[in-house]
Amino acid sequence: MHEMTAAPILETRGLRKRYGEVEVLRGIDLCVQPGERIVVMGSSGSGKSTFIRCLNGLEKTAGGAILYRGRDVTQLNENAWRGVRRSIGMVFQDYSLFPHFTVLRNLCFAPVREKVLSRDDADQRARALLKRVGLYEKADAYPCQLSGGQQQRIAIVRSMMMQPDIMLFDEPTSALDPETVGEVLAIIDDLTADGLTSIVVTHETGFARRCADRIVFMDQGTILESCAPEIFFATPTTDRARRFIANHK
Ligand SMILES: Nc1ncnc2c1ncn2[C@@H]1O[C@H](COP(=O)(O)OP(=O)(O)OP(=O)(O)O)[C@@H](O)[C@H]1O
Ligand SMILES: [Mg+2]
Repeated sequence: MHEMTAAPILETRGLRKRYGEVEVLRGIDLCVQPGERIVVMGSSGSGKSTFIRCLNGLEKTAGGAILYRGRDVTQLNENAWRGVRRSIGMVFQDYSLFPHFTVLRNLCFAPVREKVLSRDDADQRARALLKRVGLYEKADAYPCQLSGGQQQRIAIVRSMMMQPDIMLFDEPTSALDPETVGEVLAIIDDLTADGLTSIVVTHETGFARRCADRIVFMDQGTILESCAPEIFFATPTTDRARRFIANHK
């Protein structure tokens, strides 16, 4: 287990977010250790997407703080956030690849343009990652020639190209048909198994039990439970979590 000895890689303190009059995040405190694998669960509308979008600078917050490696990034402007986002990758439900680019070009485009990698290094890294996710032979294919699961695997690889040290996933498999869900979850498991910090929003309880170091359970813009999966699923402390678990058997 990850003890509290290491300095957190990511931390939120009393994070708040509102849309107009509606308070969507009502003081979120979360401390993420380097290498930790967190799964965020909670019913629809509880604020999961809003929360992880805040962690990637995609939402303007209304209070509290976000610290990345001890640095307060809460008030950074868009330009400065772009730099932070190289270290904090994000994968969405809809894997929006560039349709007119090949897989390889989709992967190499941003890191080369932003001078994170040379063209040769990007090419090499892309091919190594494609091999790792079992899609090496698709390097020259176009997105429309791939299944949904394959496209999502490419989208994950694309985020990994920037060599992030944190990966955020917002329901990465909920747009996929059931048969391909497993292959995408296996890739996420593999890529985050050795030291990459991850926060995954998902309803996939099997994945959560198997791969998470910790479950964070959200309800109405707050964190109700934060504990190891074996504790969360066996002995949740709140009624809200008990009901949620009963509905997600
Ligand atoms: N752009 C927006 N404008 C106004 N309200 C919003 C906006 N985005 C989200 N909300 C509201 O914020 C609350 C939290 O939404 P959020 O998308 O974070 O929930 P979620 O836990 O990710 O739900 P789901 O499981 O359905 O994805 C909801 O009540 C939602 O209606
Ligand atoms: Mg959501």
